Amino acid sequence: MQAFTKISEIKAAVAKAKADGKTIGLVPTMGALHEGHLSLIRRAAQENDVVVVSLFVNPIQFNNKEDLAKYPRTVDADLKLIEGVEGTIFALVPSIEEMYPEPVKDVYHFGPLEEVMEGPQRPGHFSGVAVVVRRLFDIATPDRAYFGEKDFQQLAIIRNLIEQIKYPIQIVACPIVRADDGLALSSRNMRLSPAARAIAPTIHNTLEQAAEMAEYEDVDDVKEWVMSTLASFHEVNPDQCPDGLKFEPEYFEIVNARTLQPIENWEDAGNDGAVGCIAVWLDGVRLIDIVKF
Ligand code: PAJ
Repeated sequence: MQAFTKISEIKAAVAKAKADGKTIGLVPTMGALHEGHLSLIRRAAQENDVVVVSLFVNPIQFNNKEDLAKYPRTVDADLKLIEGVEGTIFALVPSIEEMYPEPVKDVYHFGPLEEVMEGPQRPGHFSGVAVVVRRLFDIATPDRAYFGEKDFQQLAIIRNLIEQIKYPIQIVACPIVRADDGLALSSRNMRLSPAARAIAPTIHNTLEQAAEMAEYEDVDDVKEWVMSTLASFHEVNPDQCPDGLKFEPEYFEIVNARTLQPIENWEDAGNDGAVGCIAVWLDGVRLIDIVKF
């Protein structure tokens, strides 16, 4: 592993690798790496000669200052984890000034894709993601770029970005990595108190049950059941919810997996398939997850 803080230096290293005929895989991250990120890095290392991993907490994609301030920063531990992955890996750890020497003026639009779920909740978020991902594309000039299905809407946005900017990059979607108890791994999980961490797998368990219900219940009924099951969890299980601990579901949408538009009937998803996407507040932490129907 080689770590770079200067964009000009990693660009030169990538240019040299490409001149030698090597393929490049890109894994954009905001650091605080866990097994989910590592699964992307390992896959990229299997499928490419060189992997560029970026570790950059991108301020312009945060619409909540507190979330940005509280975002975990663990660069030394991250670099050690990357070191453990076999392959030629370039880690990019740029400062904010290095990434954004000028004030950012670019704005990206994604139409209906950003009018649902995370979009209305986090104004400017996806444009901020697109700005940084495009910069990373320009720096790494990858053949393939790896993104997790946990951020399902982000994946659709990135596919759309590729079409808008006409870059011939293959986007590789990687499955969600979970803790043994089912909780989707997330850098934000480390902010959960022990009591919150203990009940957090309820999100995944509820979604799994929803997938079973989908065999015989309507879309609306499944949606309603998921929202009310989580919202009433603390009333049903007061012993597991000390000090006012509770789930506050922000949204649960069942959407067409390609267009991300909410469906009314299961048949509406057609060959694209249906996906349920959820955002839930727990203990001051915003958690997201998905289930495929
Ligand atoms: P971050 O949240 O660090 O995630 C980096 C990548 O890891 C994303 O593609 C995300 O979907 C994937 N990932 C996170 N948790 C995962 C899990 N449990 N299983 C599988 N993959 C997982 O997403 C971002 O950063 C940023 O928005 C970024 C794309 C880097 C732009 O700043």
